[in-house]
Amino acid sequence: MDWTGHMCGIVGYIGPQQAAGLLTEGLARLEHRGYDSAGVAVLGSRLQVVKKAGRVRDLVDALPKRFAGKVGIGHTRWATHGPANDTNAHPHVSADGRVAVVHNGIVDNAASLRERLTEAGVELVSDTDTEVFAHLIGLSTADNLEAKVVDALSQVEGTWGLAVVHADFPDRMVVARNGSPLIVGVGDGEMYVASDLAAVVRHTTTVAHLDDGELATVTATGFTTFRQDLTTTTTTAREVDVDPSAYEYGELADEPRMFTEILEQPSSVERALRGRLDERFGTAHLGGLNLDPRELRAIRRVKILGCGSAYYVGQMGAGLIEELARVPADAEAASEFRYRNPIIEPDTLYVAVSQSGETIDTLLAVQEIKRKGGRVLGVVNVVGSAIARAVDGGIYLHAGPEIAVASTKALTNMYVAFSLLALQLGRVRDLSIADGKRLIAGLQALPTQIEEILKSESHLEEVAARLAEAESMFFVGRVRGYPVAREGAQKLKEISYRHAEAYQTSELKHGPLALISESVPTVAIVPQDELTDRNVAALHEISARRGPLVVVTHPDVDLGELDALRVDVPKNEVELDPILLTIPLQLIAFHAAKALGHDVDKPRNLAKSVTVE
Ligand code: F6R
Repeated sequence: MDWTGHMCGIVGYIGPQQAAGLLTEGLARLEHRGYDSAGVAVLGSRLQVVKKAGRVRDLVDALPKRFAGKVGIGHTRWATHGPANDTNAHPHVSADGRVAVVHNGIVDNAASLRERLTEAGVELVSDTDTEVFAHLIGLSTADNLEAKVVDALSQVEGTWGLAVVHADFPDRMVVARNGSPLIVGVGDGEMYVASDLAAVVRHTTTVAHLDDGELATVTATGFTTFRQDLTTTTTTAREVDVDPSAYEYGELADEPRMFTEILEQPSSVERALRGRLDERFGTAHLGGLNLDPRELRAIRRVKILGCGSAYYVGQMGAGLIEELARVPADAEAASEFRYRNPIIEPDTLYVAVSQSGETIDTLLAVQEIKRKGGRVLGVVNVVGSAIARAVDGGIYLHAGPEIAVASTKALTNMYVAFSLLALQLGRVRDLSIADGKRLIAGLQALPTQIEEILKSESHLEEVAARLAEAESMFFVGRVRGYPVAREGAQKLKEISYRHAEAYQTSELKHGPLALISESVPTVAIVPQDELTDRNVAALHEISARRGPLVVVTHPDVDLGELDALRVDVPKNEVELDPILLTIPLQLIAFHAAKALGHDVDKPRNLAKSVTVE
């Protein structure tokens, strides 16, 4: 576990093959999620555990020659509290050395459990809360592994994705989920478990997603699921619709994942559009909404909820929905929403937006809305994820696996998904067929236009190098351009660790203009739209204060005498421009981080999914 609640990685194997190699390979596939130590346990003639701070490579190097066993579990841990050392890495073992556990999530009552165990004479060797699971299972007097695990879980408050092996029960693993994802993968005479499909997709795409509160017994030939009261459940495995090759990076394997994911956008956008456009009637067909036209018409308001970058794209989406469907729409940080006792209205459509589908703040917001009788749609990338399963309907992003911590292609597809939703919502209301067709043509042009932006990489690299020199900078935009500025600042902050503050261009003169100087550059989003002149006027004010300028704009925008580094983006329909204006900002953030020598895929203090509040 890690005390911060960032998601660590779990992988497990049982079958006819030696487990160690399969486990470390699976862990390597989870590497890019961010981690600082890794470990594996295999059960052969005895239980053996090896764990190491550092990379999966270091773990592989540390494995002894004799490390045999056909059942085993592995883990990548991420810690920001408590040192990342060999001892704190998982798996953790019971005092008698017969139980090994790996755990994602957080034990809320760890302190009191540790105290109780200490009083009972158990010596705790690590600083983690996960270790209590190993001891509680080891001390349980129940006579089968399932009951021992349930015994332990009944004493624990918190969240878990958990996998357990026990030397007395070598024919099985027991796994459990509560708030942290866990899947069971069905192979041919062998079985896998994992926290993420990426770890097992090379071996199987037939998987079962455990529900919160559910456990499973996994043997070499199958699995059974049950609840904590030991009653059985009927969770079954299904073929998931993913292309395993999407997880392979081929010739770009040595490039940072963020970079490969940026480059993938022309094709990932195409996937998001595939089969969803109705050119004849100028509308979109989103099969998963589970809303008929009459229900769509009855919507009086749209409320979008997400966290971080997903929230910013939600803000772009709200703008689109207001423009195209003329339905009041706004976006709010899911992490704040449910704490202000929100009023849930029956004729409001709530939309939860999340790449991972596991972000706890967003999931809890969904649950709060549903508890109060609201209707929620999901805009989600990961198929079968917790949010995808909790909502009443939704739109899958089809971005393919996104591994880099800093999100790029998934955000772009969120925007595409919101465009489709706005289009469909608009076309059951007052959006004309002509406007619908205009937007469809715009959407179809996106992949080629993104391609064009990606070609200007070397120019963006120069821009990034200039920005990387500054300790602090502004990203500014207005109306459609403001969420673009927010996302641009976020991406730069996340991976370059430079301070970047997003502001509405119109608000600069009400305060922050005071900060503008030669050493504080501004990246301005200036689309060709009804606000261009006002935007350009504001840039003159910045320039007059000697603030260096980068202007992300359209080819026909006349910046006059302005002294600025210019980044031109192909023009689309005004409603769709924001997403294209975001793409160069991804490459600017990437190259700024690279110029500063940072590990782009593993930004400090961040991990891919934030599964604890
Ligand atoms: C930004 C980033 C985060 C996520 C946020 C929500 O690059 O990765 O801000 O956007 O944590 O994550 P999801 O979309 O998985 O809910």
